Parts: sequence; C-alpha cells; structure tokens
Amino acid sequence: MSDEVKKFKVTIDGQTVEVAPGTSILEAARQIGGQCVPPAMCYYKPLESSGGRCRTCLVEVAKGSEADPRPMPKLVASCRTNVMDGMEVKNLTSERTQEARKGVTELLLINHPLDCPICDQAGECHLQDLGYEHGLESTRTEFPRRTFEPEDIGPYIKLNMNRCILCARCVLAANQLTEEREHGILFRGDHAEISTYLNKALENDFIGNVIDVCPVGALTDRTSRFASRVWFTKPVNATCSCDKCSGKAVLWMKGEEIIRVTARKNQYDEVEEWICNDCRFHKKDLKYWNIEGPRHIDRHSVISLNHYEKPKDYFREIDNPDAKEISSSDENQKGDKII
Ligand code: SF4
Ligand code: SF4
Ligand code: FES
Repeated sequence: MSDEVKKFKVTIDGQTVEVAPGTSILEAARQIGGQCVPPAMCYYKPLESSGGRCRTCLVEVAKGSEADPRPMPKLVASCRTNVMDGMEVKNLTSERTQEARKGVTELLLINHPLDCPICDQAGECHLQDLGYEHGLESTRTEFPRRTFEPEDIGPYIKLNMNRCILCARCVLAANQLTEEREHGILFRGDHAEISTYLNKALENDFIGNVIDVCPVGALTDRTSRFASRVWFTKPVNATCSCDKCSGKAVLWMKGEEIIRVTARKNQYDEVEEWICNDCRFHKKDLKYWNIEGPRHIDRHSVISLNHYEKPKDYFREIDNPDAKEISSSDENQKGDKII
C-alpha cells in the first residue's frame, strides 16, 4: 500500500494548487504567491500558535469542499482555517473580503496615532501598507484616543504602546525564544496593553527578535532610534562568527556606518533565522562582519524601491580582509553604487 498522502486541491482567486491536508488557506495562498495572498498582521509562520487575532487575513470561502460544496456563511480567518479538498476561496476577487478588510483596518487604526512621519517603522510597516490600501481618508470617531507614554522596556527596546495592535507576536516570540518571558498582555478588551512584569527589563539573549516580529512601530530598537529613515539606508547580507546564533544578519548601512542590525526576513517579513542580542545591538562596526552582498527586500513597501544592488566593487574597497567574493548571480543587481 502506498504511504503517499492524498493532496487537497484548493482554488484561490481562480488559481489552483495542491497542498497537504492540514495546510491553512493562507499557507496555500503563499504557495501560489502574488496578489492572492491575504495580508497577515498577527500570523507569523516561525512562531507556534500565532494568528487568529487581527482578522486582516479574512477571506470568503465560496465552496466548502468537493464533498460539501456549500459556501461558508461568514468570512473566515485564512491563517486559522484549513483547506478542504475542492475548496474555492476568494480573496482579491471578493467584494465582501475587501469591505471587511477596510473595516478591520479602521478598527486597527481607531486608537492609532498619526506618527508615521516620526515612526522608525515607517517604510516597512504593515499597518502603513494596510492604511494605504484600505484606509479611510478621515476618521469617523470623535472620542479621545487611548494614549500611553513611550516606555523603555530594558536597555535595548522602546515600547510605544500607542502604536501596538495587540497581535501578541512579541509575547509568543519571547515565550518561544527566551528562557524566561518577562512581558505579556495585561488586562482585557479595550484595556489590554503590553507591559513588563513589575518593571522587569527585557534583557534575555534573544529578546531583540521581538523588534523584528512586531508588525508596527510599537517595539523599536533603542540603539538605532531616529538614526535614519529606513529608505535612506542600504540593507546588506552579512555574517559574523557568533557562538550564540548563526551570525547571519542584515546590516542597514548609511555610507560605511551600520545604522542597525536585523535578522534576515523572507518575502512575508518573517524571520528566517533568529539572531542574538550581541549581533543585533553590539556589533555596529564593520570589523565584526563579512559582507556577502546586497539584500533584496522582497516586499511591496518603500524599502524595496531602492535599485542599488551591485555593490561588488564597493565592498572590495571596504577595509575588511576577510570579506568574501560576492556572487553576482542575483538578477536584481542593477549596477548602481551602494552609497
Ligand atoms: S506603526 Fe506604522 S502606521 Fe503606526 S505610526 Fe508607525 S509607521 Fe505609521
Ligand atoms: S508590541 Fe508589537 S508585536 Fe507586541 S503585541 Fe503590540 S504590535 Fe504585536
Ligand atoms: S493574520 Fe489571520 S487573524 Fe491575524
């Protein structure tokens, strides 16, 4: 008897893909790629049990399955709903989905400040993208917004609770990456907020990763706050020798200065390999790093618009004898200089 598991056929916005049973609609859409992939503000594949909180990934299921073709009456969260064989899903092609996403965006922005011009996340912020795609031009609410003072939670991380959308990614990251989680979501409903336990600072070795998983500017890097707008910096892949993590990171550079260090992320802005605090916060000098080459940021936000990706000669000039030869196979390398 064959051990091969029968795959499920699912059609999303008219495109069909075969996926293993147990795959979520969102992951099936990612296998197709392109415009049919719903946005996700709380789901984060590398974090177990993420998703199901923000509702930005709502989709319409027009046909439940081959066995039961009835449509699902309500829109469903695609990150938490598994595919069935023969299922037909509408994302971009569903007016109901687009309307609902507008409503979700309005709700996420209901207490959100107009901070983009001074927010370090601007240019790589999923909420900003959602706002551009689905936001209203003006607010329909008049009541005072919920406000908090920005807070230093530990030596490296700044919390701007005003910008938090309570996606819980940072809590899951701290739970799953560090030995002792020291922050969480306090209270419930519209009183809920992110806070540390009794003034405990976030100092665990891998806690810096909460900055990378935060989809908005609620958690930012204190070592690079306000140093530069992200679109004035150039991301490059670099490695260092580290005994705590893989040492594979992205350096965001301005000239020869390292403005900030982040983990490498995929096209859905999910971290490929977690990095430790040492690499992220304490290695802001090129002497620690071997530069591999430019990082192509595969997202539709402003940071992917810089076509500067041919640093070969430039990197040879950097005074780092260990720097490796750079492969020029990347088709995105355009020939501009990286400064
Ligand atoms: S978190 Fe995003 S939407 Fe909010 S102020 Fe910062 S850049 Fe703007
Ligand atoms: S601080 Fe950021 S990651 Fe944490 S819950 Fe708020 S928005 Fe999500
Ligand atoms: S991404 Fe699915 S509910 Fe948030």
